[in-house]
Amino acid sequence: MMAVAGELALAALAAILLAWLLALVLSHFLPLLLNPKAPRGSFGWPLVGETLRFLAPHSSNTLGGFLEDHCARYGRVFKSHLFCTPTVVSCDQDLNHFILQNEERLFQCSYPRPIHGILGKSSMLVVLGEDHKRLRNLALALALVTSTKLKPGYLGDIEKIALHVVGSWRQDGGGGRVVAFCEEARKFAFSVIVKQVLGLSPEDPVTARILEDFLAFMKGLISFPLYIPGTPYAKAVQARERISSTVKGIIEERRSPGSCKKGDFLDVLLSSNELSDDEKVSFVLDSLLGGYETTSLLISMVVYFLGQSAEDLDLVKREHDSIRSNKGKEESLTSEDYKKMEYTQHVINEALRCGNIVKFVHRKALKDVRYKEYLIPSGWKVLPVFSAVHLNPSLHGNAQHFQPCRWEVCYFLSIGSVLLTCHLYW
Ligand code: HEM
Repeated sequence: MMAVAGELALAALAAILLAWLLALVLSHFLPLLLNPKAPRGSFGWPLVGETLRFLAPHSSNTLGGFLEDHCARYGRVFKSHLFCTPTVVSCDQDLNHFILQNEERLFQCSYPRPIHGILGKSSMLVVLGEDHKRLRNLALALALVTSTKLKPGYLGDIEKIALHVVGSWRQDGGGGRVVAFCEEARKFAFSVIVKQVLGLSPEDPVTARILEDFLAFMKGLISFPLYIPGTPYAKAVQARERISSTVKGIIEERRSPGSCKKGDFLDVLLSSNELSDDEKVSFVLDSLLGGYETTSLLISMVVYFLGQSAEDLDLVKREHDSIRSNKGKEESLTSEDYKKMEYTQHVINEALRCGNIVKFVHRKALKDVRYKEYLIPSGWKVLPVFSAVHLNPSLHGNAQHFQPCRWEVCYFLSIGSVLLTCHLYW
């Protein structure tokens, strides 16, 4: 009797496993059969599809083997199966533009579910539709108020933090000391954001606590999404909760009678009646997340590329020296000084182009979308790949090379087009 029950249980388990495998295979291949007009491409293995090859590391000023291979085989727009979803990948400048211009009409932001668990339901990368529009408009309005109200102070603060970080390399005699620049750039970016957003100085013990939690939070964002105590994913979700309660504590302190204004982004945020407390906390987290990795990577990229081009480094140095020579020794740089740094701006633009800090963004088609000869089926993931446009040799000559001077033409063209537009309107 026991043996029969055991055999039955085994058979049931085998049937469930078989049904699950069948469902998996069907859900993988069905979109291929149902959408014959989708762009050409390949789906790879059930469930993982081609995700691992798509995410394989490569130099940021190259497309990587997966995109090179797929573009050569299927063209600049192709289908694939990525992040467990049928996907259209676009390496085409016009289609990327079309996707981003039709936000919420034809396409919608669509980051993988597990990321929602870490970012929280009020994050701007998670909120959709009218709510997203409302948050984005508010963010722009608040950023505008902050930048006009706080500009002189905040440029001075950024300069002080930069001098503090660079000064710390000179300690201990300086000579022979090796610094990991990426880490220094991270320290700098974090200190600037925490100062601007929460009014905290790098030495404040709360800053150290937020940094520790924030690093766990960042680690979880790129981890396997398994919520079991001890996994990086679970640690990230818990770290987010701790950062939220730290920020809520700071908000309560600011609201307490007798507390004075610090003139930071939080003051501006707290003066808004259009956001719930959860949304205010999410704004702070979005600013930390949005500004930390991106800005520090960009600074590191600038140093990396300038390190390989003595000529560009020399041009940047000369530009800075000429601005410095017109100022007193202790005088801080003003926004007018920054505006004069034309070549530095070309270097930043070129580091953004070659560095490809954000390689692509996640979108989803809200309905069947026809674009030129392509059909993007409703519900499919759509990935506009920015790096493919930045590195397209038919758009940028010598595309893989760092050449800031290529932006000079754009600079004069943009001045030319402004003048032309002015003349048209006058
Ligand atoms: C080199 C620097 C930066 C790069 C390359 C960068 C890149 C991007 C990109 C590509 C997106 C679009 C994401 C999407 O729609 O899927 C984005 C959105 C966003 N970024 Fe940045 N970013 C940078 C700096 C910053 C900084 C300094 C902050 C804040 C302090 C910030 C805050 C945000 C926020 C809040 C969003 C969401 C906007 C929305 O959904 O409407 N970013 N960023």
